[in-house]
Amino acid sequence: MTTDQFSVADKNVIITGSSQGIGAVTARRFVEDGANVVVSSRTQEKIDDVVDDLDGPGRAIAIECDVRDRASVGALIEATVEEFGSVDVLVNNAGASFMSNYEDISENGWKTIVDINLHGTYHCSQLAGEQMRNGDGGVIVNLASVAGMDGAPYMSHYAAAKAAVVNLTKTLAFEWAGDDVRVNCVSPGFVATPGVESQMGVTAEEIDRTAVDRRIGLSEEIADTIQFLSSKGASYITGETIVARGVPDIMESPDL
Ligand SMILES: NC(=O)c1ccc[n+]([C@@H]2O[C@H](COP(=O)([O-])OP(=O)(O)OC[C@H]3O[C@@H](n4cnc5c(N)ncnc54)[C@H](OP(=O)(O)O)[C@@H]3O)[C@@H](O)[C@H]2O)c1
Repeated sequence: MTTDQFSVADKNVIITGSSQGIGAVTARRFVEDGANVVVSSRTQEKIDDVVDDLDGPGRAIAIECDVRDRASVGALIEATVEEFGSVDVLVNNAGASFMSNYEDISENGWKTIVDINLHGTYHCSQLAGEQMRNGDGGVIVNLASVAGMDGAPYMSHYAAAKAAVVNLTKTLAFEWAGDDVRVNCVSPGFVATPGVESQMGVTAEEIDRTAVDRRIGLSEEIADTIQFLSSKGASYITGETIVARGVPDIMESPDL
């Protein structure tokens, strides 16, 4: 085994929601490893900044896309194929949430969160999957959450959507195995990112590590898992969810 097995060099990669946090760090990692990366989010200025900040050997371009909008996703896939020739890896990373009691979540609030986290994954996987299945195959890596596995008080919409992403990962892996498309998922625990900081109204340093989780993850640690699943080193893995939470589930027991 060599480390080349875990390289994504020369892969053409789309990372949704990569204007900050886990997505932006993964984009950096992939470009430094020699991949061609489409950095994407709803905010052109932010993704331009991410791309300006990246150094090769890989290439990066910024394409604005709202994953809730099928036409916008279609344009993203088309522009990627035009620029790089194929979509080899899709990282469904765009995500969002807000905290609320279940009884206070409006229909609009519920639908917005499900739209971004689940329907976004549906649009991107279906349209990028079409390219992969008609070409040489490919890899899809979904971002779910431990919320989608354990439930998450005050984030019922988000937890339900992420649970569906975990489930979709299995079904899609089954349906597309014959087309050489692997579909896997990463379920992070609590990771210090701009999104989490604004959601909780505190900086990562201020978060009480023992109260929230035993160990706050770094975006780089999630990027490691995404890279592994995207690489040849994971060629016999499909339909799986890797939980990256820094502690085994048993540590979450209230008795410990
Ligand atoms: N951080 C954690 O603790 C944690 C834990 C478990 C799972 N996750 C999951 O990991 C992924 C990344 O998390 P993060 O904390 O790095 O995120 P983050 O800091 O909140 O950033 C979210 C990214 O998604 C983009 N985005 C939001 N809505 C979008 C839409 N409709 N279309 C396209 N892009 C959109 C944002 O950019 P724009 O606003 O510019 O569009 C931004 O780039 C998410 O799926 C999240 O649910 C995170």
